[in-house]
Amino acid sequence: MFAGWGIKLKIKNSLFLKFFAIFSVTIFIILASLFFVLRVYIEDQDIKIFEQNLSQRTQTLIPFIKPLAKNNQALKQSIQEISKNLGNRITVIDVDGTVIADSQNDEKTMSSHLDRPEIKAVIGGAEFGLDIRNSTTNLERTLYYALPMETDAKLVGILRLSVPINALKTFSQDVLKNILIAFFIAIILSTVFAYAVSRKTTKDIAVLLETISEISKGNFKAKAKINSNSELAQFAEALNKMSDDIENLFWQTKALDELKRDFISNASHELKTPVTAIVGFSQMLQTKKLTSTQKHYVEIIQKQSKRLSNIVTDLLSLNVLENTGLKDIKKTDVPIDNILDDIINLYQKRLNDKNIVIKQEISPDAKTVYANEFYLEQALTNLIDNAVKYTEEGSITITTQMSDDGFVEIAVSDTGIGIEEKYLSRLFERFYVVDKSRSRESGGTGLGLAIVKHIALIHNARIDVRSKICAGSSFKLHFPPKNS
Ligand SMILES: Nc1ncnc2c1ncn2[C@@H]1O[C@H](COP(=O)(O)OP(=O)(O)OP(=O)(O)O)[C@@H](O)[C@H]1O
Ligand SMILES: [Mg+2]
Repeated sequence: MFAGWGIKLKIKNSLFLKFFAIFSVTIFIILASLFFVLRVYIEDQDIKIFEQNLSQRTQTLIPFIKPLAKNNQALKQSIQEISKNLGNRITVIDVDGTVIADSQNDEKTMSSHLDRPEIKAVIGGAEFGLDIRNSTTNLERTLYYALPMETDAKLVGILRLSVPINALKTFSQDVLKNILIAFFIAIILSTVFAYAVSRKTTKDIAVLLETISEISKGNFKAKAKINSNSELAQFAEALNKMSDDIENLFWQTKALDELKRDFISNASHELKTPVTAIVGFSQMLQTKKLTSTQKHYVEIIQKQSKRLSNIVTDLLSLNVLENTGLKDIKKTDVPIDNILDDIINLYQKRLNDKNIVIKQEISPDAKTVYANEFYLEQALTNLIDNAVKYTEEGSITITTQMSDDGFVEIAVSDTGIGIEEKYLSRLFERFYVVDKSRSRESGGTGLGLAIVKHIALIHNARIDVRSKICAGSSFKLHFPPKNS
């Protein structure tokens, strides 16, 4: 129905994979980012909780430690014991920065702590001192918390508790491990979900493509069925409606086309007799004795009625061709050079007048073509007629050639006026002429190439054209091999 319009559409597996990959990678990226944000947040919270914890412990310890600050021996013993129970390192520092006692190290070997930020803060009058840094003693990242010990509002010493951050991390790591497991399950579930959604979507798209492909072949009965509320289902509905509309339009156009064809056919049949009569009688009139004015008029009548007669003949041939099928014509191996000689004979005078050379280049393996002789001659006559009509100087060449796939190619090329690229696609339409005024002058109606196209069609042959403005044109017929 729509020859040459069939669109081949097929969904590639890669579309499904692409969908699936995009979907799962997106989910993965979202979850991974969420995990990192959570991790920073939880660790932050963790440190805050430990700060509080340390602050409380330090505060609670002050009443025990302060009275012992004078007795180095008892102090050392107590802080070592408390430290063992709490799991914190405990340091007691004098107001001048000297370490009085430390639960982990020998205080005598320890340098002044005046430069430690948490100590500096307390000596400077702050309510507490806090710092996170690498410990010089064991190189671990450590949280330090220091509080002033006061007697009568006078600073008498500083109590400092510390804990390595790694130790407190175990808590957050536990939480993060659980989150990670939850995310892992979420990723697996969403991957399964992504798989299902991508499959459904690609399946729906495949249904749509299949339907479009069917419609393009002219099968308007094909309908896309998608069971969901998605946009694709709406698309399918729109597609089905469009297909119905196209079908209606198609039948309307077909009916109109048939009407047009019938009208042209009837009109040309009706015109045939009167036109033949006018041509005949005007010819007869010419043999009579006429004044020069009368002779002039009779010549005009004759020229124009001949033209009208040609149009009627062309329309009738087109009508016959349109109703001719591939199987209706008788084909034989036609020797191409014989036909060309006959046609060239007809045009020889005009060619001489225009000083145009005509050449035949018949390839030894393409001397004959399997075709209907009458129609082949009609097609080549039309092409050569155009070449003569639209060439002012130079030459016309007719070449034959056998293509690799066994087609006989006959080309009529000229060095004439040429055709602009934008007109090429319309040349084979009925009544189409590029330059109306020029055609009227040369007697062209725009039916010649329409006839050639139909002759090609009933031979299952193809015609194509190449042309360059002011350089020339070449029309080539491709006849299929005999046994195809
Ligand atoms: N060899 C050519 N060189 C330049 N233009 C051409 C050539 N052949 C065809 N054309 C252009 O294509 C148009 C259509 O050609 P077609 O043979 O159908 O009509 P026509 O020659 O004008 O009239 P008809 O063949 O019916 O007498 C022509 O009017 C002309 O403009
Ligand atoms: Mg023509």
